Amino acid sequence: MTTTTQREIEAAGGSNGVSTERKGALAVWTIDRPDRRNALARATVRELGRLAREAASDRSLRAVILTGAGGQAFCAGADLKERQSMDEAEVRDFLALYRASFGAIDRLPVPVIAAIEGVAFGGGLELALACDFRVASRGATLGLTETSLAIIPGAGGTQRLVRAIGGARAKELIVFGRRLTAMEAHAIGLVNAVAGEGESALSAAERFATPLLDAAPIAIAAALDAVDAADDRSLEDGLSYERVCYERTLASKDRLEALAAFAAKRKPTYRGE
Ligand code: COA
Repeated sequence: MTTTTQREIEAAGGSNGVSTERKGALAVWTIDRPDRRNALARATVRELGRLAREAASDRSLRAVILTGAGGQAFCAGADLKERQSMDEAEVRDFLALYRASFGAIDRLPVPVIAAIEGVAFGGGLELALACDFRVASRGATLGLTETSLAIIPGAGGTQRLVRAIGGARAKELIVFGRRLTAMEAHAIGLVNAVAGEGESALSAAERFATPLLDAAPIAIAAALDAVDAADDRSLEDGLSYERVCYERTLASKDRLEALAAFAAKRKPTYRGE
């Protein structure tokens, strides 16, 4: 994918629309376009992909939280104002960009948690589905609303939602453009955790991420890889791939540290080696 153009930056309102913060081993990426309910401009999608590719080689990173600014929306999907000026070929290019950027987030060897405050509609929920985990505020609303705009999910929603909650429920959500409350989404496993009363999604996501910050990163990456592989393989192939992933942990110093710490009745210190 090419880099962001000046035209794209202008269409996004003068910036790529993503701000970042580092809190030790945790990175927080915030879609920062609250006046458009954090809708996804081209420059924004491109920047999310760039951040994910950069993060893939960051050895001190243990978790990423992806969230939206302003308290009203995680992300209201594609930027429909920018979309108005796109011809069919440009929409196709945009879909390819979605695939590349969301794929980079999906493949990141570090856990990514979507902190959903407010709405996650269309491409916004598809973005959250490319993350490993979803944590929502009590008032959050989630839906793949595309059919109401005479299109279908084009950023992986038809495929990743099925993998997350199964075909029958995914079909209902997509075909009817059903909007779920945080509690409903939690009940069907679409959301991993719901924030406490009055608690923000970001704060709940930070709490959710805390155990990951001291966890063994080679094991975490191997676990994500092995679980993701289950979606695409027969059981026998999947079991073989589990062995491949296990092998990465077998050769690690962290595995020996775990055994030594257990014997000494102390907390292990993992270095990702
Ligand atoms: N793209 C571009 N701008 C968007 C947007 C989107 N997806 N969603 C919201 N906005 C803009 C609105 O146009 C409005 O801008 P304005 O002040 O210039 O009129 C601003 O964000 C606030 O939106 P508003 O509808 O007034 O806020 P709300 O809090 O009442 O509702 C939503 C927010 C997200 C529920 C509502 O805007 C909505 O349904 N948006 C479309 C979501 C959607 O269908 N996404 C799927 C895309 S595939």
